[in-house]
Amino acid sequence: MPAAAPAPRKIAVSAPQFQGNEAKYVQECLDTTWVSSIGRFIPLFEQGFAEYCEVEHAIAANNGTSALHLALLGMDLQPGDEVIVPTLTFVATANAVTYCGAKPVFIDSEPRTMNLDPALLEACITPKTRGILVVHLYGHPADMDAILAVARRHNLFVIEDAAEAHGALYRGRKVGGLGDAGTFSFFGNKIITTGEGGMVTVRDHGRAERIRIFRGQGMQPDRRYWFPVIGYNYRMTNIQAALGLAQLEQIDRYTAHHRMVASWYAHYLSPLAEAMALPVEEPWARHAYWLYTVVLGPAIATSRDEIMAGLAEAGIETRPVFYPMHVMPPFFSEGASFPVAERLSARGLSLPTHIRLTEEDVAYIAGHLLRLCNL
Ligand SMILES: Cc1ncc(COP(=O)(O)O)c(C=O)c1O
Repeated sequence: MPAAAPAPRKIAVSAPQFQGNEAKYVQECLDTTWVSSIGRFIPLFEQGFAEYCEVEHAIAANNGTSALHLALLGMDLQPGDEVIVPTLTFVATANAVTYCGAKPVFIDSEPRTMNLDPALLEACITPKTRGILVVHLYGHPADMDAILAVARRHNLFVIEDAAEAHGALYRGRKVGGLGDAGTFSFFGNKIITTGEGGMVTVRDHGRAERIRIFRGQGMQPDRRYWFPVIGYNYRMTNIQAALGLAQLEQIDRYTAHHRMVASWYAHYLSPLAEAMALPVEEPWARHAYWLYTVVLGPAIATSRDEIMAGLAEAGIETRPVFYPMHVMPPFFSEGASFPVAERLSARGLSLPTHIRLTEEDVAYIAGHLLRLCNL
């Protein structure tokens, strides 16, 4: 009988892993029946995450989008205000600004790290500008000193959207603790996950209090069922926090593995280093490599989408770089042009990057990418 053909590989772009105390902590929630947004794991996860990010306060939320909304509410953003937002980001960053009735003003990217280009900031500032919402895209920190210098000159707040950058360092300091507030996502594809979940990190005690009030329906902390402001139910559950605490216990191993995967890609893709932009790591940065994102250069005639389709045939899932926000129907404005972000969006793709990948997987992915680039 002929031998059966080997099953095709399936390599996901992201994949979580639960090999620590996750099951034990979640079981404790079930055993004690503390399954909602009261329970010991919530303050433990918050305190642990605050320590990890080297900030005074961390406030858990039910996802990264509500964390962004809470951070903006913490800055007292008002209808009619403007916030500078990179056009190349996930839609939640821009949406959160609109939830406050404010307007996202888009800014182009710099091509090396794909983050907002600080040299363009001054030109975006108007009398209505209140703040800058920085995104550490795909895990590489934005150039915070340059951004903070502009913010200080114009008295603007700075919020870091670090949804994709758990553990990234800027000049040796953790992201999320560099501006006025930081936000994180713990969706299932992130470096650590709580299923759905988010966190706001903040230094200022008053802002932290304000954010906690908005998170819990706007209730005054010392007066039950008294609501001085319109708040939200953005609370994290004890079950999510139980997962989060167990994941946090392993975060150093996870981030080290992401960096190891990146070093394997750099090695196996080195024959393509002239033809495509491999991720850079600026001298002042430690990249979290949430995703390993490459950008096809002009020497590669095959389209990005054809390459993604070819990789899918080999069982390799990839994802395209985000569409820039200025082309989305809710944010579209005639004639708006952000050429760097548009090119990165059209030619960029993220390769599988997660804790379960082996060097052999990376060699397999790189081999197919080399073949498909047809050079
Ligand atoms: C840059 C960025 N900001 C915000 C979010 C929103 O996080 P969540 O999906 O947890 O709401 C994400 C999630 O993917 C993201 O990538």
